[in-house]
Amino acid sequence: MARLVVVSNRVPQPRQRLPQAGGLAVVLADAVKSGSLWFGWSGKCAPATATAATLQEAGGVTYATIDLGETDHRLFYTGFGNGALWPMLLFRLGLINFRPEEYAGYRAVNRAYARALAPLLQPDDLIWVHDYLLIPLAEELRALGVDNRIGFFLHTPFVPPAILSALPRAAELLGSLCAYDVVGFQTRGYLAAFKDCVTQVLNVEVPNIQSPNGQADETVCFSHGGRRVRAIVDPVGIDADAFSRVAQRAVGSPETRRLAASLDGRALAIGVDRLDYAKGLPNRVEAFGRLFEQHPEHRRQVSFLQVAAPSREDIGDYQSLRRQLDRLVGDVNGRYSDADWTPLRYMTRPLGRRTLAGFYRLARVGVVTPLRDGMNLVAKEFIAAQDPLDPGVLILSRFAGAADDMAGALIVNPFDADEVAEAMHAALSMREEERKARHEALHAQVRRTTANRFCEVFLAQLQRTPRHGGIGH
Ligand code: G6P
Repeated sequence: MARLVVVSNRVPQPRQRLPQAGGLAVVLADAVKSGSLWFGWSGKCAPATATAATLQEAGGVTYATIDLGETDHRLFYTGFGNGALWPMLLFRLGLINFRPEEYAGYRAVNRAYARALAPLLQPDDLIWVHDYLLIPLAEELRALGVDNRIGFFLHTPFVPPAILSALPRAAELLGSLCAYDVVGFQTRGYLAAFKDCVTQVLNVEVPNIQSPNGQADETVCFSHGGRRVRAIVDPVGIDADAFSRVAQRAVGSPETRRLAASLDGRALAIGVDRLDYAKGLPNRVEAFGRLFEQHPEHRRQVSFLQVAAPSREDIGDYQSLRRQLDRLVGDVNGRYSDADWTPLRYMTRPLGRRTLAGFYRLARVGVVTPLRDGMNLVAKEFIAAQDPLDPGVLILSRFAGAADDMAGALIVNPFDADEVAEAMHAALSMREEERKARHEALHAQVRRTTANRFCEVFLAQLQRTPRHGGIGH
């Protein structure tokens, strides 16, 4: 079996068994078995970007990380990565802030990563690169003569040509994606959008999407720049059974018990998100206020806990989101609170996964209403955490990748505050029988598309790629 090399911008701290935030590091923890190498950013900035990686061993895994120069990090992460590429991929054209020097910095950091990684590689390594910050990495590795099999997985949505082409240099980035042997997406819709972009923006003929009997749900293969590229659908999942066990244990924890006592018999609704404009938090708060207007019987009967972990705080659009949310939460609380009841509890500090698991299990309603989201694992964790004998109800945005196979949720348009308020009312009023039926279907689905399956499907696709990636080999 070839060695696995995982590359992601964020690398978990060695020995950290349950990372704080969900997301990428948690999903990959399963794939990164003993003997693997995990490469990425150290999380530290230095006066200049390091030219060689620092190695650390833990549990048989080698963690190789580099410090980034402050300016490089600003251009790469705060600049092009999260100030232009992220809003484009999340369908927010008005928030794109493109600066050529930031784009150059983004490419330069990818080159630096490639230069630090190349000397650590062995000829048979399977290299698996993650997410939008590292799109050009394969091209940079190829330029250094690396002919290993290299795969890429995009955790965000992928967009149709009309959106993609709004970002200057997007055609170049699309071309960079074609230096990978396998490119993975979360949903069929994203794969179809990618196919349309390759056809229209790169003028490459791409055959129809196939649904083979193989492990990947759907696949499309085409040639570009003398290489063969296979694009696949492979939804990210969670280890549902493990998370259920964590939740079962966590209900007895002091934090969950304190929360339960504070509710004083009221229902709990919960939302857990990074403080990102893609998560639709202002819309959600507005919808919650609308619930009390349209269905006053819920006043004093429900408390909403919103955990919003600060994210990318150097970026203006994230700072203004926080100010907007502070104001909106104050507005709804000011309007509907009683002396002994506050409708919205709002925390802008992250909570550990164990604590969250207990809170999810306590909640009657899980509210996951992003305006766009690649997948959204909170939706899956909420389902896994429920007590099957008395489960809560999930309200889920149709614009989260997770909505594709979570039809048992109350699916909403997050831009429609009335519709979301009605879904909150339906969830709070739903009879036990219907809650159980919905939960059973959702739980079965969440248990099928696990983190393990995600890794296995991707790596099987990468493994079957002929070495030297070129056409005809
Ligand atoms: C999204 C991205 C991930 C990223 C995470 C946290 O889920 O797809 O690649 O790691 O957000 O964002 P941050 O900027 O803190 O890494």
